Amino acid sequence: MSIIAVFNQKGGVGKTTTALNLLAAIAQRGQRPVGIDLDPQAHLSHVFGAQAKLADDSVYSFFVRQRPLDDIARITKSGVVVCPAHLELAKVDSMLGKSVNIVTRLRQALRAPDAMPGPVVIDTCPLFNVLSLNAVFACDLLLVPVSCDFLALRGAREVERALNALEPVFRQRLPRRYLLTRYDARRRMSRQVVEQMMEALRPEDVCATRIRESVMLAESPSVELDVFRHAPSSHGALDYQALVEELVGAGFVE
Ligand SMILES: Nc1ncnc2c1ncn2[C@@H]1O[C@H](COP(=O)(O)OP(=O)(O)OP(=O)(O)O)[C@@H](O)[C@H]1O
Ligand SMILES: [Mg+2]
Repeated sequence: MSIIAVFNQKGGVGKTTTALNLLAAIAQRGQRPVGIDLDPQAHLSHVFGAQAKLADDSVYSFFVRQRPLDDIARITKSGVVVCPAHLELAKVDSMLGKSVNIVTRLRQALRAPDAMPGPVVIDTCPLFNVLSLNAVFACDLLLVPVSCDFLALRGAREVERALNALEPVFRQRLPRRYLLTRYDARRRMSRQVVEQMMEALRPEDVCATRIRESVMLAESPSVELDVFRHAPSSHGALDYQALVEELVGAGFVE
């Protein structure tokens, strides 16, 4: 079972774009991946055409009413199974923040003997809250998109500090990969961000694959498609395919 959480507490760095196209790239390999949308904005659910009209049909009911995940899961045209989000999810933090063992609830469900077979990719919101902690505690790999600008680089350092602070709880170093997004080799800023990232982080934690700036990646959500269905020969499709191959090679996708 491979569980990958896509997280960065900085907004707009390419988390949903990465979760969406990673799931689609895994489906392209003939597997049936499961996407879990933990962001109340529900962008991932929307692009896959799997919006939940009622909070009860979303992961909200998994957290609040203990509804099994496979009850709310839907199969999409991309061949991806999606457990959709709903705006009500924004209340989970204040409702359940103090409950016992709340941060391991998703981990327990995904690792139960009768759990849906993976691979699983979790999209998160840009906050360190109960929902994103559920993703962090559940995952085998934390994938941290970092867009090629200096503020995003600062965000990556903050993620690294937070993960290091959690290390005594995990009793191990949580495997992580920082993924550069919106990379443009012609821009000096992109090259500088790469250099500084290699200095600030362990180089082996930085993905060799870089997701290039791509109009097709930006455009595909507006027509509710992943990049493989929208523009299969675009840079965006090639880069996310390369990312899956890298993750397969590193043993994070079976
Ligand atoms: N490689 C790319 N090339 C061009 N545009 C991109 C690329 N990756 C992401 N974008 C665009 O950047 C914007 C932010 O991306 P995305 O929604 O994936 O970020 P996010 O981290 O999920 O944001 P949030 O924190 O709000 O959830 C979107 O408009 C998306 O289309
Ligand atoms: Mg998002």
